[in-house]
Amino acid sequence: MTALLIRNGRVIDPASGRDETADVAVATSAAGGKVIEIGPSLSTTGVSRIIDAKGLIVAPGLIDPHVHLREPGQEDKETIASGSQAAVAGGFTAVCCMPNTTPALDCPELVRFVYDRARQTACRVYPIGAGTVGRKGEAITEIALMHEAGAVGFSDDGDVIASAGMMSRVLTEVAQVGSVFMQHCQEPTLTRGAVMHAGRVSTRFGLTGWPRVAEEVIIERDIRLNKGIGCRYHVQHLSSAGSVEIVRCARAEGQPVSAEASPHHLLLTDEAIDQDGVPNALAKVNPPIRERSDVDAVRAGVADGTITILATDHAPHTASEKARPIESAPFGLIGLEGALGLYAKALIEPGLIDWPRLIALLTVNPAALCGLDKHGLGRIAIGGPADLTLIDPDCAWTLDEAALAGKSCNTPFLGWSLGVRAVVTIVNGRVLHAVDAQLASAPG
Ligand code: DOR
Repeated sequence: MTALLIRNGRVIDPASGRDETADVAVATSAAGGKVIEIGPSLSTTGVSRIIDAKGLIVAPGLIDPHVHLREPGQEDKETIASGSQAAVAGGFTAVCCMPNTTPALDCPELVRFVYDRARQTACRVYPIGAGTVGRKGEAITEIALMHEAGAVGFSDDGDVIASAGMMSRVLTEVAQVGSVFMQHCQEPTLTRGAVMHAGRVSTRFGLTGWPRVAEEVIIERDIRLNKGIGCRYHVQHLSSAGSVEIVRCARAEGQPVSAEASPHHLLLTDEAIDQDGVPNALAKVNPPIRERSDVDAVRAGVADGTITILATDHAPHTASEKARPIESAPFGLIGLEGALGLYAKALIEPGLIDWPRLIALLTVNPAALCGLDKHGLGRIAIGGPADLTLIDPDCAWTLDEAALAGKSCNTPFLGWSLGVRAVVTIVNGRVLHAVDAQLASAPG
């Protein structure tokens, strides 16, 4: 039986090249919700729910390959359940959670723990396993066993793997299982005590600066190390113009290198730290937001295909921690709920890319990065999972606290006016988020 009919939307599926006005029919069974038909004017007979998608984009469910869900260990900031609520509120149907939890996700048991918790949650949650035990950079983890348990990538995110010897071993092991290594590119001796980008604003405040080269030397090093290994290597939250250029050259040489950009690195400069002469810890993030020329270069990197993935780096922290003086406040900001509107502001509104490209950066590309395409995610296909995001490309809304579904609200984007929003999120055939009740009605 057709459980759900989404009518008259602009169906964009970059994986197949589809971009047309059509209906999408979804059926549900014990095995979950599946797309059963795509086409014009599908029959409404026997349909239990119709969504009028006129004027909306119907996209594959959005995928965020880089979030922090804080469980186990810091459940006051976020849990796997609350983070997945934030995800569906932002239009995401699948997220990959980073291993910098307490304890770190560094063994098969903890990979299984995430899957166990994720069974009760809104969106699909996939764990990224740590490359080194406790993310300390000293001993390699059981990468093959973690991969078998379901880790969809490896990273010590939050920290770099500083030792070149250890990095080589990790790249070799990850290559052997055919997975991806996602590097947090931060040379630690260049960033000791650093709070924000090294530039005019850090000088103004007398704060220790974080130079671009701290990111760039790690990317250069890893690409060189990886030449004889051939692991899929992914640069997380790229922040500097130089980093974009390094990745561009490596890709031009045909190396297996990819990179992601985050909303804040696409939109904010280090001036966001200066709130009427007082340093604003809400804009403190690792790697730091930099200067206009870097923002422009990251955007250009997306536009020319150097950066193929968008990722929020959703990093919840408590209000009291973020209220500390900037030197001792933690790095990070939340991102899931506002991400789509922010990506559109940075990339669609200035005309840098079109809708099919934006959707590819959020669906088919991250699915391939983390092997989620094997489960049929990242595309709209007959017989495939009914993970769908309906996007209003022309609306006016404000990212305010009421729009936040997660546990934390640490973002400098609160109060921003946005023109694009995920209005319906469907995971496995179930409507888990709908902004406007009118959109999801019974047939009448
Ligand atoms: O700003 C950040 N916060 N960057 C990271 O890499 C880690 C994250 C966190 O876990 O808070």
